[in-house]
Amino acid sequence: MIFDTHAHYDDPIYDPDRARLFAELKENGVGLILNPGCDLSSSRRAVELAEEYDFVYAAVGIHPEECGGVTEADYDALRQLARHPKVVAIGEIGLDYHWEDNPGKEEQQTVFRRQLQLARELSLPVIVHDREAHADSLAMIREFPDLDGVFHCFSGSVEMAKLLWQRGWYLGFDGPVTYKNARKAPEVIASVPLDRILIESDAPWLSPVPYRGKRNRSDWLRAVAEKIAESHGVSLSEAEDATFYNGRRFYRIP
Ligand code: NI
Repeated sequence: MIFDTHAHYDDPIYDPDRARLFAELKENGVGLILNPGCDLSSSRRAVELAEEYDFVYAAVGIHPEECGGVTEADYDALRQLARHPKVVAIGEIGLDYHWEDNPGKEEQQTVFRRQLQLARELSLPVIVHDREAHADSLAMIREFPDLDGVFHCFSGSVEMAKLLWQRGWYLGFDGPVTYKNARKAPEVIASVPLDRILIESDAPWLSPVPYRGKRNRSDWLRAVAEKIAESHGVSLSEAEDATFYNGRRFYRIP
């Protein structure tokens, strides 16, 4: 069974056929989905989806690309949303230094830190987006030694992965591990203990081979589970079951 621990089904691209797609996913062995928010409105939408569909859970948070001009009222609204019983994490939050027109580093760090504080206050784990900001992201989470979290779509080195799983954090792997140019990925995946690995579609983006460029869906995650299975010398069903269990443990879903 698959637990897609990171999928943006609140995206309007799914509006025409979401219910039918979810029925197909269930038939195809997707047992759980975690839908993170990227700003207040998508966080609200994630909570609505979690209310509507039994196998969907939500996280709420403000993505670094969306963090410009965040106010105290926004943090209060997030706190309110986070009290919903099906909200199991704060995310996705973090740092993104890739795009030049993103909010400045200082502003990103301020909003990231405030949301880490919120997670600590509410005793929730965090979903971290780290793009080209490895050193600053690590420094930030070190300020919160009592938090646990996942580095979503992990793109760091074997060494960085080790720093994270040794603290009890999780590493999320997505479609790009199936791409031909992903030379580092098998080595990194093999270095991470199987009980620290989560699989994520990041739908609608990051579709695995052979669906690259298409609107992503959670059952295609089997291609990522296959890479985990290969790297760890286990069967596909063992890789699916291990990551399914990891996701439930991490998000404390009974
Ligand atoms: Ni995402």
